[in-house]
Parts: sequence; C-alpha cells; structure tokens
Amino acid sequence: MHKTMTDGARQYSPLNGIECLRVEPSRLLPSLQQDARSGLLASPRSMPPKYFYDERGARLFDAICDTQEYYPTRTEEVLLQQHAREIISQVKPDHIIEFGSGTSRKTRHLLDACEGLGRRLTYWPFDVCEPVLRTTGHALMHDYDWLKVSPLLGDYHAGLDELPVPQGPCLYLFLGGTIGNFDSVSAHQFLVEICDRMRADDSLVMGADRVKAHDVLHAAYNDAEGITAEFNLNLLEVLNRGLDADFDSARFSHRAVYNATREQIEMYLVARERHQVRIDALDCNIRLQDGESILTEISRKFSDESLQAMLTEAGYTLDRHYQPDNRYYSLLLARPTSIGSKKSEL
Ligand code: SAH
Ligand code: TRP
Repeated sequence: MHKTMTDGARQYSPLNGIECLRVEPSRLLPSLQQDARSGLLASPRSMPPKYFYDERGARLFDAICDTQEYYPTRTEEVLLQQHAREIISQVKPDHIIEFGSGTSRKTRHLLDACEGLGRRLTYWPFDVCEPVLRTTGHALMHDYDWLKVSPLLGDYHAGLDELPVPQGPCLYLFLGGTIGNFDSVSAHQFLVEICDRMRADDSLVMGADRVKAHDVLHAAYNDAEGITAEFNLNLLEVLNRGLDADFDSARFSHRAVYNATREQIEMYLVARERHQVRIDALDCNIRLQDGESILTEISRKFSDESLQAMLTEAGYTLDRHYQPDNRYYSLLLARPTSIGSKKSEL
C-alpha cells in the first residue's frame, strides 16, 4: 500500500503525480553542507529556511495554515476570494507563474475566477518540494480539466534565468507573506529579478504580512497545538538525514519571538541543555551551551510605507492594494514601472 494524502474530501496518491520540469540554477548556490558549515559553525548560529520543506515539513506547514492562531492564510484567502475576478479581468493572464506555490490552495480562487471569466491558461507552480509539487499538479489537473499545469522544480534563490518565458500576459504570484522570509537585501534582489523578466502586460500579485499587535504576531508563530514547534524541530531531522548528524530533537525547544525593533518574527531552535552534536558530513562536532539558539527563520512584517518603498525601489508601480478592515495583511497588485524603457520582446 502506498501512502495517500487527504485534501478535504479528496484522496489522491502521490504515485499519480505528474512530471516536474527541473529548473537549472542560473547561479551556483551553496550546498546543504556549505550552508551548514557557514550557518551552524558560526556565532550566532543559523540555517536558511528552505531546508524546512521536506515532505513532512511541507505537510506540517499546511497544518500550520489551518491553526486558529495563524491568521495570514485565512486573511490572504479572503482577499483573493474577494478580488480574484478583478485581478484576472485586469491582467488577462495567459500564464500564472507562482513562486513557492506549496499546495496552491489559495491560488484556486484565481483559477476559479479564470474559469468564471472563460480564460484558459497555463499554471506554472515553482517550488523546491517535489512530492508536493507532483500531487498538487495532479489534483489541479483533475479539478480544472481546462487547465494546463506545468510544475517547475527548483530553488528560486538560484536565479530565474532558466525559467520558461511564455508567450502572452503573465501573472507572477508570490503569496503567503514569503517575501517576509527574505532579508531586505535578498527581497530587493528577488523582486528586481522578477521585474527584469516582466514585459509590459505582465503583473505581480504578492502577499505580505503587516506590523500589528505583538500578541497576535506572537500567537501566530506559537500555536497552542504545537504544530509550528513540530515544523521547526523537523528541520533537525532534515539535517540528520542530509548531513549524517545526530541532532536529538528532544534536546531542543521551539522559540518564536517578535523583534519590535526589526519588525520581524524570529524563530529559533534553543538547546535545552549543554550538549554536543556530531555532524559526520562536516567531520565535526558542535558544542551547544544550555539556552544557545539556532536562528531558523525570520518573518518580516511590513507597514503601508515599507511595502510601497520596497516595490518602488525594485522598479514596480502599485496598481491595487487590497487589505482587510483590520489591516492585518496586504495583497498587492503591481507592474513594472520603467516598461517604456524596456525593449519590446513581444
Ligand atoms: N505559497 C504557499 C506556501 C508558502 S510556504 C502559501 O501561501 O501557503 C513556502 C513555500 O515555498 C513552500 O512550499 C516551500 O517548499 C517553498 N520554498 C521555500 N524555499 C524555496 C526556495 N528556495 N525555492 C523554491 N521554493 C521554496
Ligand atoms: N511565510 C510564512 C510566514 O512567514 C512562513 C511560516 C509561517 C513559517 N509559519 C512558520 C515558517 C513557522 C517557519 C515556521 O508566516
């Protein structure tokens, strides 16, 4: 028996997943070994967040999205539901390319709007997590029989040069507040890279989380069920497998705190006691003090002004800014500003 995955009432098998196109890196990225060497052996210690997303990590992330405390998914979903028709009517996309698409749950609202408006298109979900990409691709093709799905497997930090350049208007999607998981320099570079690919009739729809009451932010990354803690601790299992290491997750706790000065949630794995970890792939041991932490994720929170500035500086003009009454979250529709000076590639 193979494992099945449940998505609402549906069940489908990962074995039925569709093929993914592998996106070759346009620039060399550090390997897990190199990231671990520069992150885990440094002081303070850290790891890049992309390693969270093995198959279990991706499932746990999806479960985080359903917790009471984690408002961003619900909020973004409502905004998409309310404004999908307007977005699709305005952009008239022939293609949707989504960065860090995961299970594409919220994207379905845009696809529903396309269906309602009679727009057929190709959806290109781009993610590092192959099993999720395959099962999601399969489910979408099943549920939207008019839709062409072309999953792209790769790491968006490795550059976008090798992504397909489809004909016709393209809607680039970057949801989930994932832009907040990039530091400000990488966020700028990434947005510029997307902008550089865009043609006159392309648009970007991006979701970003907002600065708000600290207790609301704190709760969102410290759910009572402990799913976020499990997700964070799962990184140690990924490291054990990938680095032949012997991290013992019972010796670590999850800690997520809001740093008001930097306007970001910081997530850590904290050693509960002084101990040593063997990392065979690096041929070394690391000695952790009681209470010593490894930074595993930042999640930056934005203001109206900081969002506007980030987009303008990266070469975009904001067309629409959707937000709920409580201003918990922003859904932004933007397009390249300096398109007049761009070569026409059509
Ligand atoms: N967009 C979804 C999922 C967000 S979680 C939502 O809004 O709910 C972040 C997603 O980005 C995960 O699916 C993860 O696998 C993917 N991801 C993380 N780092 C990545 C990288 N470097 N390149 C491509 N995808 C990445
Ligand atoms: N983009 C999401 C966010 O910053 C990612 C996320 C949510 C996350 N909860 C998490 C990442 C917990 C690590 C751990 O909100």
